Amino acid sequence: MHYQSLAQLLREIQYATGWSEQEIAQHAQCSQSTVHRMRHSKGDVAFSVGQRIQSLHNEYIGCHHAVHPIREIVPYLRTHRRRIFVLWLASRLLRQDYLQALAQDIALLNCLDIAIVVVFAHQVPCKEDYSDQINWPEDILPAADAMQQAISDITASATHLACMMSLPNRHLHGVSTPISQSNYIIGRPVGVIDGVDMLHAGRVRKIDKEMILSQLQSGHIVLLPPLGFGMEGDIFLLSATEIAMQTATLLGADKLILIGDQVVSPQTHPPLPSELTVNDVHERYAAHPLLRVAHSAIERGVQRVHLVNARKKDALLREIFTRDGCGTMVTREPYEKFRTAQRADIDGILRLIRPLEEDGVLVKRPRVDLESGINNFVVIERDGKIISCAALYAYAEGHCGEISCMVTDSEYRMAGRGNKMLQMLEEMAQVMEMHYIFVLSTQTTHWFLERGFRLATPNELPVSRRQTYNVQRNAKVLLKWCTVPVSMDISGQAEHGEHRL
Ligand SMILES: CC(C)(COP(=O)(O)OP(=O)(O)OC[C@H]1O[C@@H](n2cnc3c(N)ncnc32)[C@H](O)[C@@H]1OP(=O)(O)O)[C@@H](O)C(=O)NCCC(=O)NCCS
Repeated sequence: MHYQSLAQLLREIQYATGWSEQEIAQHAQCSQSTVHRMRHSKGDVAFSVGQRIQSLHNEYIGCHHAVHPIREIVPYLRTHRRRIFVLWLASRLLRQDYLQALAQDIALLNCLDIAIVVVFAHQVPCKEDYSDQINWPEDILPAADAMQQAISDITASATHLACMMSLPNRHLHGVSTPISQSNYIIGRPVGVIDGVDMLHAGRVRKIDKEMILSQLQSGHIVLLPPLGFGMEGDIFLLSATEIAMQTATLLGADKLILIGDQVVSPQTHPPLPSELTVNDVHERYAAHPLLRVAHSAIERGVQRVHLVNARKKDALLREIFTRDGCGTMVTREPYEKFRTAQRADIDGILRLIRPLEEDGVLVKRPRVDLESGINNFVVIERDGKIISCAALYAYAEGHCGEISCMVTDSEYRMAGRGNKMLQMLEEMAQVMEMHYIFVLSTQTTHWFLERGFRLATPNELPVSRRQTYNVQRNAKVLLKWCTVPVSMDISGQAEHGEHRL
């Protein structure tokens, strides 16, 4: 068996079981030194030992992989409990086969103690499909006969959708979900615009917040069709997006989830990024109708807006219960925060660096060192999880700093996060007026060389670091001058904006 694969299997077994090398040796019926050699891909190993490691892996990692998704989901279950989500469904969805699966997933959310309001759009018979727009465009004139038809279509859609959501759920051993549907919205006519009477086109005038909240509290899904009732008993056609946005704002919803099923060609419409801030939407996607809705909703105070494509399997559940989702999430602030570390991050940092310390990629660092030096760290936090970290330790002698503990979680590599952290550390070094930064690396030499470092010798390290340099480890020393404004006085040695020793 390939040594590297064996080393990987051993790492995973250790991670899943918490066993020491000695305990693994007992289970694999071999010596501890054999396990040690395997972990570091050194020397020979008997075929039978390799096979035993493989079966230990099957035994322990098979079940570890099964629980991994549960570990990811549980924090979301806790966070979303008793929160309010407003779901907006595009008009076309109501005619699709996958509506049933979607309706059942919505019911599942309700069973997980998430308060759900569902708003669905209806396509008004007119020149274009404006049902998914925020406001009525001026050329929609729902005439009396078209209005009758629209009301009966919307009523039929509401009944159909309510039925689908309340059916005994196949994922929940037949539990059925109560649906509440009533006159929760009071409408008003759009009126006459530029001399044109907009007839039955309406605007949201009032939403019965108390009634909706009381229905949600008693475990009902609240279904809001795009209709508003006037004080005189008349009925108006409303924009579903307006209802969704206003309801989400009024109820202080945690999420507004816009579910569509657009088929777009990747050539003409490149896929949207998985996360966007309102600024990104404003700058790059101002013409995108649903992102415009997302933008407005966030401006009105909704925390997060998600765009989900119902054509993707389990899209709604994946978007809500996984860290990376499968749609597009719009927030006010970036979803990933890049910042200096705090004491509360220590466990997250340890989770990142410990496996690499075990493998000898990083030098082992006791927790107490991390606690005392936490101010030297920068981290990237993604929805509460630390996914990258790096540190810059200053050396007064030589005016320099050492970069260490540079790690990105293996699931998030290759996306420029390492680069971003290095840039941040370099900026910190400049602010601290360091002359140069260095790093000791055994396996990432080229990564640093490609980013402007050069190979140096241990003799070029500051004296105190030279004394602790581990000759056995034989790490390469890489060094980079700090770029500083040429005007800065650095003993007359500034040249092309670089410090010299
Ligand atoms: C090095 C590391 C921090 C980079 O993180 P990252 O978030 O993936 O960084 P970036 O996305 O900015 O860089 C990715 C690039 O680095 C390259 N790279 C990754 N590991 C490398 C290595 N060991 N040697 C050379 N290049 C490497 C990738 O191939 C990719 O190259 P590309 O941009 O040409 O496609 C990450 O690979 C890691 O955690 N490694 C293990 C820990 C480690 O070795 N740390 C350094 C010791 S101080």
